[in-house]
Amino acid sequence: MASVPFDQLDGEIWYNGAYVPWSEAKLHVLTHGLHYASAVFEGERAYGGEIFKLTEHTERLHRSAEILGMEIPYSVAEIDDACRTLLKRQGLSDAYVRPIAWRGSEMMGVSAQTNRINLAIAIWQWPSYFKPEERLKGIRLDQAEYRRPDPRTAPAKSKAAGLYMICTLSKHRAEARGYADALMLDWRGQVAEATGANIFFVKDGVLHTPTPDCFLDGITRRTVIELAKKRGYEVVERAIMPEEMSGFSECFLTGTAAEVTPVSEIGPYNFKVGEISTNLVNDYMQAVQPLQSAAE
Ligand SMILES: Cc1ncc(COP(=O)(O)O)c(C=O)c1O
Repeated sequence: MASVPFDQLDGEIWYNGAYVPWSEAKLHVLTHGLHYASAVFEGERAYGGEIFKLTEHTERLHRSAEILGMEIPYSVAEIDDACRTLLKRQGLSDAYVRPIAWRGSEMMGVSAQTNRINLAIAIWQWPSYFKPEERLKGIRLDQAEYRRPDPRTAPAKSKAAGLYMICTLSKHRAEARGYADALMLDWRGQVAEATGANIFFVKDGVLHTPTPDCFLDGITRRTVIELAKKRGYEVVERAIMPEEMSGFSECFLTGTAAEVTPVSEIGPYNFKVGEISTNLVNDYMQAVQPLQSAAE
């Protein structure tokens, strides 16, 4: 991770249609998105100069905004184009891409009907989300105090900034206790996901993963399900209770940032980094490479 603060990196940021110098991509303290978390974002990765599943991410950004009643004033094609052009202008081929849309400053009460919907895109170099040496051994997860909310309590299907408050709290607590991340249960007490990644388990050669009915159905999650099926593995999406973890032999996380990361421990439960996890780590790393270089 860079030791330079993120507002002091080099290059340009795409900001409401213009490429502005990195240090000048600012917003005012009286911004609705900051005070009331009226913001939605995406996390994407470029491999070998191409952003993996870019259009799926941009479509999700649009959907996330719609769920919050925000209309992003740029089409999916315009945003895709801005992401691709910015990646080139940044001179990066392996990088992290962060589009974010937020309500501006026109109104500062809870109601913000007329606020401008702003959009910015930043791209920077970002290595492995978890320490590489930890990742190969499998990372250790704490059990989070907070639970993913009932979809009647919060717009669970939107990648909305506000939903990350409990993720940061859970991740900070886990790190303070010596873990890499935390497993969050959902409002019913079922296994949900980690603070920024979905979760899979293996039992008797079959993959089991929670049904994404109150958390993001990750793009990586769906990719890994396809890859697993291609290998002939059975994948079961279902409600998983925490006590079932004693019967699972392998566990891994999936996410754009986390990619496929094996898990060795969740509280009292231990898992091995087995053949199925290892195969899917490798299959995913192959799948994200642009077609041209993958064929080489
Ligand atoms: C809370 C949460 N769950 C799951 C995911 C995985 O989603 P994706 O695979 O689309 O990156 C992410 C990452 O975006 C996330 O932040």
